[in-house]
Amino acid sequence: MNLEFEKLETDFGARIHGINQSDYLDEQLVQALTVGLDEHGVLLMRGEEISPGRLVELGRAFGELEILPEPEKRHPDHPEIFDLTNVRSDGEVVDYEEPQAVFLRGTERWHTDSSFREIPCLCTMLYALEVPDSGGETQFANMFSALQQLPADLRAAIDGKRLVHSYVYSRANNPGHMEPMSLEEQKKYPPVSHPWIRTHADGRESLYMGGHVSHVEGMDLDEGRKLIDDVLTAATRNQFIYEHHWAANDLVIWDNRSTLHRLRPYEISARRRVMRRVTVAGFDRVR
Ligand SMILES: [Fe+2]
Repeated sequence: MNLEFEKLETDFGARIHGINQSDYLDEQLVQALTVGLDEHGVLLMRGEEISPGRLVELGRAFGELEILPEPEKRHPDHPEIFDLTNVRSDGEVVDYEEPQAVFLRGTERWHTDSSFREIPCLCTMLYALEVPDSGGETQFANMFSALQQLPADLRAAIDGKRLVHSYVYSRANNPGHMEPMSLEEQKKYPPVSHPWIRTHADGRESLYMGGHVSHVEGMDLDEGRKLIDDVLTAATRNQFIYEHHWAANDLVIWDNRSTLHRLRPYEISARRRVMRRVTVAGFDRVR
C-alpha cells in the first residue's frame, strides 16, 4: 500500500491516491485514512466504481454506522446506506415542492450532519452515481480556520457558550414545507447542547454549529440568534471554503466535527442527482 494525500487547492481537503476498491482494508490502511481525515478534514477518492457493499465496508473502517431517521430513504439491501436522490421510486425526477425535494433543498443550509445527537457523528461519506452538469456542488467550510480567524469580539462573545441542536427545530424550519413530526417521533430526538467551541482529542479547537442549532443556551433568544448569524457569516467566508464539483464515482468523506457543509442549488425538478451516503457515528465527545 502506498497511500498518498494530494492537497486540494484550498485551505483544506485532500485527494487520496493509492487505494484500489479491491484492496483489503487492513489496520494500517484504516489508520492512514483516519489520520488523513483528521489532518485534511475532507477527503476525495475519484474515478473508481464503489459498490454498495464496499461503501459500507469503507464506512465501517472509520467506526460504527448510523441508521438514519427516515426508513423510506434507506437502501433496500444495506440499511446503513441513505439514498440521497431526486429520482422517485417510479424513475421520475421529483417536483419542486414534493417532500423528497423539500428535504434535499433543506440541505442547502450550512450544517453538520447529526449534530442533533448526544454523540454527534464523526464523518459522512457521500458517493456520486449521477450528477448534474452544473449546480449541485457541495461546499465545505473549515471550522478550525474559521475559529482561528474569528474577530476577537465574536470569539469573546461565544467563549464558554453552548448551542442547543434540535432535529425537530431544523425540520420545522426547513425553507420548504415538511409535515410536522408526530409527538412520538419528536420524543426520539430531544434537543441536546454542545459547546460552541469544540476541543478535539488532539487539543485543537474548532467552531461547532450549523442548521440544527435552535438557540444559544441561557441567552435571550433574539440576541442569541443574532450572534449565531454573525458567527456563521464570519465562519463561511470564501477563504474557508472548498467547493466540490462532483463527477460520477466520486467519493467524498468529511469530518463533521470540524467542518460545515451545504448543497448548492441545482435544477432539482429537471436534472438527476443520485448519491449514496453512509454516516459514521462519533465516539470521542470532548468537552
Ligand atoms: Fe449534510
